[in-house]
Amino acid sequence: MKFDTIIKGGKVVSATETTLTDVGIRGEKVVAIGKNLASANGGGAEIVDARGRYVIPGGIDVHVHLALPFCGTTSADDYDSGTKAAACGGVTSLIDFAIPYGEETLQQAVDNWHEKAEGKACIDYAFHVAITKWDKHGKDIKKFIDKGYPTFKQFMIYEREGWQSDDRAMYAALETLKAHGGMLLVHAESSRVLDLLIERHHNKAEMKKHGAYLHTVTRPNFVEAEAIERVIHWTRVTGGKTFVVHMSTGEGADLIKRAQADGVDIVAETCAQYLVLDDENFKKKDGHMYGTCPQLKKPKDIKRLWKGLQDGEVCNVSTDTCTFTTKQKAMWKGDFTKIPMGMPGLETLLPLVYTFGVRKRRLTVNQFVDKCCTNPAKLMGMFPKKGTIRVGSDADITIIHPTKTRKVDWRKMETNCDWSPFQGWNLAGFAEQTFSRGKQIVKNYKFCGENGHGEWIPRSLN
Ligand code: URP
Ligand code: ZN
Ligand code: ZN
Repeated sequence: MKFDTIIKGGKVVSATETTLTDVGIRGEKVVAIGKNLASANGGGAEIVDARGRYVIPGGIDVHVHLALPFCGTTSADDYDSGTKAAACGGVTSLIDFAIPYGEETLQQAVDNWHEKAEGKACIDYAFHVAITKWDKHGKDIKKFIDKGYPTFKQFMIYEREGWQSDDRAMYAALETLKAHGGMLLVHAESSRVLDLLIERHHNKAEMKKHGAYLHTVTRPNFVEAEAIERVIHWTRVTGGKTFVVHMSTGEGADLIKRAQADGVDIVAETCAQYLVLDDENFKKKDGHMYGTCPQLKKPKDIKRLWKGLQDGEVCNVSTDTCTFTTKQKAMWKGDFTKIPMGMPGLETLLPLVYTFGVRKRRLTVNQFVDKCCTNPAKLMGMFPKKGTIRVGSDADITIIHPTKTRKVDWRKMETNCDWSPFQGWNLAGFAEQTFSRGKQIVKNYKFCGENGHGEWIPRSLN
């Protein structure tokens, strides 16, 4: 058989097993897996020495916001820097959210996001479609599912942005999505109670005293838990299918576990930051930099979320990448309600989960691949094209060293961000080599791909 590339002698990791074998690539696909592969075109194939390395399916980050207008500014990583960062982090596919602004239709939102990505993206990408005005958008759901966009998003907060959905909209969306084979993604926080708590603490004296820690004060865990309970309820009664995004609390994990045991079709992701950072960070001098939505929680939540990954009620790890620079973050001027909310994440997703999961023995290397590569592909309708190394799959492959660490330093990274929540941390699991549809896009930890290589991924949940 002829190959363009043979990845030789690595430990090929799937969600269930690890095998010492070679991987043969021709064009964009994996075409052979086996020991001692040799190309029929003599020396024509590029040989990549993976001895002593893990060879994993490229990471899939299903929760990303690139160039998102949000909190009075626009997130700093776009489809150029964001996808280069992803590649260096070993992520080969991402899913962003196409969000309609004002009175825009779903079509306008989707067109807008395609325009952001086309010609720029260095890895493959897809979009969830955000429903912000049910009465206007609901009628287009089937059309988008048929076109390859089977996942939709509703936010239970963000009235100020014009994105908020109420119970009526959620119930109706779940009914409609069930009828047509789609899935609803939900940002679950209880808006009215949150608004009340913010109102109570939004005064000069408290802001002077507590600074960014007011994020924690105004978002106790029940703000997320109550909203998840409601989502579970609407999912149960409609028979719909729900994916709770960026779950940050132990209570959330308990609720999801119980609902799944009751047969409710609901899953929940968490994000890397909720697994490694706690809300003590808000007390630091630069605590506002850690402002995200939902905010960081307590060590007991971190512990529970890792347990959820081990046991299954937490289905995958994403990043919710929404990068804001120091200058953008400074817009808060001491007012916690004005912090541009979000952090960089794509470049550190796999290293964080590998280091704090596999190296700390919380996850096996197979669970790591399951939660960061395979399960995201399955849940989002991209499997087995993505999320696995098997004959016929896209040759999206990341090679990592099992123990070698690299120090996080934003100055040496691809992100446009001028800080990192993980600055100075020693992490294993950075991509030594990354392949996207057969093309090498990271070589010896350096990006070597090109803008425009990335393609939109049509998806289907059936
Ligand atoms: O802080 C965050 N997460 N910003 C992005 C918007 C969202 O809620 O996902
Ligand atoms: Zn959200
Ligand atoms: Zn988000």
